Amino acid sequence: MAKEMVLVSGGAGYIGSHTTVALIEAGYDVVVIDNLSNSDLGAVEGVRKITGVDVPFEQVDCCDKEALRAIFKKYPFNSVIHFAAYKAVGESVEQPLKYYSNNLGSFLNILELMQEEGRSNVLFSSSATVYGEPDELPVTEASPRKPATSPYGNTKQMCEDILRDTVAAGAGVKGIALRYFNPMGAHPSALIGELPRGVPNNLVPFITQTAAGVRECLSIFGNDYNTPDGTCIRDYIDVVDLAAAHVAAIGRLVEGCNKKDYEVFNVGTGRGVSVMELVEAFERVNGLKLNYRIVGRRSGDVESVWAETSLANNELGWKAVRTLDETLAAAWAWEKHVRGIE
Ligand code: UD1
Repeated sequence: MAKEMVLVSGGAGYIGSHTTVALIEAGYDVVVIDNLSNSDLGAVEGVRKITGVDVPFEQVDCCDKEALRAIFKKYPFNSVIHFAAYKAVGESVEQPLKYYSNNLGSFLNILELMQEEGRSNVLFSSSATVYGEPDELPVTEASPRKPATSPYGNTKQMCEDILRDTVAAGAGVKGIALRYFNPMGAHPSALIGELPRGVPNNLVPFITQTAAGVRECLSIFGNDYNTPDGTCIRDYIDVVDLAAAHVAAIGRLVEGCNKKDYEVFNVGTGRGVSVMELVEAFERVNGLKLNYRIVGRRSGDVESVWAETSLANNELGWKAVRTLDETLAAAWAWEKHVRGIE
């Protein structure tokens, strides 16, 4: 029997490359497309090395509808995982049109082509950012979405709504939005991982680059929050666990086990970890001292957010299994690999 085929847009990126590995290991055929605007072919090479599969790669921008149509014509996939998007919060505030045009335009093209070419299943990469500053913790999928505080966050909310409405219109498309909490870590092989261009915005790459000597000092944004140690609390999810959640969600759509044609799941560990706890765990696990200092709060930061994960646990049959220590060791192993550190 022919294997199910999945198109992964943004498959050369951080979460996309790990998900491609997990899909191949679960027996899917995968086609990767990426415009390489914020990723590089090294990730596809890493995926090929890990899996031993010569996964097809096409350099395509999802905003180019005719180029994307050619991919739909060339490959008989019935499922799409749409990662391809811009993701820098600060940049989205400075260049909102860049974010609206890219993040909405690419997803509209994907959905239009799914209808035009008769494809069924779509997974959308959403974010816990849709919950804003939550009223209650942990946040469930039923917790209210808060007005977005950045164009980036707004595109996540808008794409969720576009998917919901498209599915509701009976267009023959079924969809799942996965709301990621804070992805971190790397594949245990250290052949793929997070590779931000320029100065990292996110905490873990900033930590690993500081440990590697690429950055002088980590700034911890505020220790006067209303939390046990005063630093913000997040739900850090290992990227390998996150990839497995995508495989479970695609399986649910492919096998028709979904209860509704549009569903939303939180993807986190269910455990809140403070910035200070994370820094200390990184030092302990990897046996090093990190240069850091406490500075003022970063504007727009939420104080605490972590996930209620029982819906994903029960419905997807998925659970985060990697420990914080394993994840922080993997993040450091990857950074060392990238920097050529022994
Ligand atoms: C951020 C985005 C979120 C997006 C996610 C994607 C903001 C406000 N939110 O989440 O919308 O979906 O990235 O990955 O940007 N921290 C430091 N020093 C640093 C970097 C971060 O102390 O150099 C702290 C932050 O204050 C925060 C925590 O580390 O408390 C996590 O920050 P980050 O990795 O940027 O993720 P989020 O802000 O949760």
